[in-house]
Amino acid sequence: MRKPVILITGANGEIGHGLIEHFGKQDRHDIVALDLRPVDPRIASTNLTSIQGDILDDNVMQRIVSEFEIHVIYHLAAMLSTRSEYAPDIAHNVNVNGTLNLIKLAHEQARWHGTPVRFLFPSSIAAYGLPDLATKADAGRVSENEWNIPSTMYGCNKLYCEQLGRYYSMHFRQLAADRTPSGVDFRALRFPGLISAVTLPAGGTSDYASEMVHAAAQGQPYACFVSESSRIPFMAMPDAIKALLMLAEADESLLKQRTYNVGSFSVSAGEIRQLVMRAFPKADITFAPDRARNAIVDSWPADVDDSAASRDWGWKPDYDARRAFEEYLAPTIADFYKGQ
Ligand code: SER
Repeated sequence: MRKPVILITGANGEIGHGLIEHFGKQDRHDIVALDLRPVDPRIASTNLTSIQGDILDDNVMQRIVSEFEIHVIYHLAAMLSTRSEYAPDIAHNVNVNGTLNLIKLAHEQARWHGTPVRFLFPSSIAAYGLPDLATKADAGRVSENEWNIPSTMYGCNKLYCEQLGRYYSMHFRQLAADRTPSGVDFRALRFPGLISAVTLPAGGTSDYASEMVHAAAQGQPYACFVSESSRIPFMAMPDAIKALLMLAEADESLLKQRTYNVGSFSVSAGEIRQLVMRAFPKADITFAPDRARNAIVDSWPADVDDSAASRDWGWKPDYDARRAFEEYLAPTIADFYKGQ
């Protein structure tokens, strides 16, 4: 008998860690964790099967389909924005074709077991593109349908995959005489930059916030690659996990759209430095902006309007900037490096 499972791709990444920790504590679900590397032993649990493989590998996809009955997918595997600019073709392949593979897997599974598969997709503020700083200042908190003209390959990939998911959920094979729903119940969150106390992101452009605080906790100097005034929204990892779980559990009839902004706090790089200095007064943080990476951050909104998420499924973050640093990041990171 196949057991119903939750499939998590990109399981070793920042969000994957948090989700697996959450589901690992419960007995209600079995988890299949897919990643290019074996799942981090620190988060292994008895209800977890780790599969090492690539979302672009058909054999891996077939193995998963033949062994497991999947009801929920958290498709987290992606190439982040900085890395994607160095290899745009590969980024497109991973971020778009990889997502299509997972959507097709969800469709096949739904057809096989007869119930819709919930498909959770982390999109990003990278889906926006503001042309200059004056426009960014004027735009303020952007809502989902404004400024969807990203300047990065990663942003284009995320924006397109949101549309792909909406198509599968709402318009799949709309002209077919024997038309039936795809069974893919796609839900996307546009996350701000995420900061975790236990993992470092790799290859992103919002990474400076995490790098600043992790360097400070280890007593290492850090030269920030954006200017002090650069401002985008950020979110502490516990709120990101909470948002994903809330959206996953929301009744489909409440969802008026398939992609939602979620916000938490908007801070400049200089303000992040101040927050880090309060927690680690000896931190050595300087600014050495990289023009091209700074331009990407400048093209992202200063903040997001997440009123649709509050209205439809009750979104409200637990952490503002002060609380995120004082109650989550500083103490958890200090503990984390003590145990290393
Ligand atoms: N954190 C991502 C990046 O920097 C944006 O979603 O690429």
